[in-house]
Amino acid sequence: MRVLICASEGAPYAKTGGLADVVGALPKALQANGVDVRVIMPYYKKIKDKNLAQYKGYAYVRIGASTEYVGVFEAVHENVIYYFIDSDRYFGRDGFYGYGDDGERFAFFDFAVLEAMKVVGFFPDILHLNDWQTGLIPYILKNNYYAYFEYNRIKTVFSIHNIQYQGNFPMDLMNILFMPYYNSLEFMGDINFMKTAIIESNAITTVSPTYKNEVLTDQYGYYLNNILGLRYFDFYGILNGIDVNKYNPETDKLIYKNYSIKNVTTGKKANKEALLKEFGLTGIDAPLFGLVSRLVDQKGIDLLEPIIDEVINYSNANFILMGSGDSKYENFFRSLESKYPNRFKAYIGYSDPIAQKIYAGCDIFLMPSKFEPCGLGQMIAMRYGTLPLVRETGGLKDTVIPYNQYTGEGTGFTFTNFIPNDLKEVMFLAVNVYNNNKLAFKKMVKQAMEKDFSWDQSALSYIDLYNRLIK
Ligand code: GLC
Repeated sequence: MRVLICASEGAPYAKTGGLADVVGALPKALQANGVDVRVIMPYYKKIKDKNLAQYKGYAYVRIGASTEYVGVFEAVHENVIYYFIDSDRYFGRDGFYGYGDDGERFAFFDFAVLEAMKVVGFFPDILHLNDWQTGLIPYILKNNYYAYFEYNRIKTVFSIHNIQYQGNFPMDLMNILFMPYYNSLEFMGDINFMKTAIIESNAITTVSPTYKNEVLTDQYGYYLNNILGLRYFDFYGILNGIDVNKYNPETDKLIYKNYSIKNVTTGKKANKEALLKEFGLTGIDAPLFGLVSRLVDQKGIDLLEPIIDEVINYSNANFILMGSGDSKYENFFRSLESKYPNRFKAYIGYSDPIAQKIYAGCDIFLMPSKFEPCGLGQMIAMRYGTLPLVRETGGLKDTVIPYNQYTGEGTGFTFTNFIPNDLKEVMFLAVNVYNNNKLAFKKMVKQAMEKDFSWDQSALSYIDLYNRLIK
């Protein structure tokens, strides 16, 4: 079976979020099960500057009055072939997203992906698309390529990693795209890439079973819930995994000291000590909260605002948080740091080594998300024996087993309603278990580390789906 995975970012080449991790890890798991899988993505300036890929040929795509060059490059990473779409005009820029012409840029990309197949001679059985940036592909495939045998037989799978970002652009984008107009493009007066993909793909997936149910509701669907409802029987929730080789406390070179489930108590202690020291904190015996996140509304930082003073003033907890994003959250973190210099530290930005040290060195990992399609941080945390404290939504609900004080069951702490007070209560609960019930806490650490978050199971679910579509 041949599968082409198409996305706007993929680790290790280009990463802004969890999507890149999925694109970096899923292919390896598919390959291990005998799939001929390749990846295709834009050749951003940041990738091109490294000069790691080989030129394979070119094609053209018409946009408006111009005929645009499409260069195709190839690189191999951990045995997986990556194709890159080169265009100075659209991708020769410092960033990946956030430009005024993003609609045009990714429409171009969607046309280019289909042309690139001819250049490299790889026509997949399954074209696996991800998020809005790839959303026009099933539509173009159906309308512009229906007369070509190699294209005709391709089945499309569209994966939603976050339904909040839909790629909606003014209808006049149509004026420069060479394709016929049908209603599936339009949503509330705009061209909506994600809606188009939901209607036109052979199957739709999202990244956890709970998020699948959530996006079918008004509360989480960002208006597309009823469109998804139309495809209910072709819509699946398949949980992401994490790269358990990269995220492995036994071998991770970025953390202070390696450890396994066997020596987790001393191993984590050594990491915590070094982490506290690096950030200028003390309190090896006090519970240490960590957070690694993009600082956007989705992540529930709002909930911390009204309650964190109380947690700091009425408990012995310390905090080391890392992230960047909305300036209101960055400033909130900075102000806490100056208010509580001995209790609270923030690293504004993103650094892989520091992220790993936080995963390894903290006791409790905060993720109070408003919504969370899957979430990777909570799984990474558990792998390092750090107990996640999460809101029961999306993939967080599917991966974290709540602490049960009667049975000792659990791999973390959870709360249900998006209410500051509920977060506060569960933070005090976690602090209390840490301080006063060390055995229960340790038992949970082991339970968390024993969980299997590898891609194996999910890869089989995708292969199952692919097979059903091909038949
Ligand atoms: C997005 C979602 C996150 C998910 C990731 C990978 O970043 O916000 O929850 O884990 O995509 O699917």
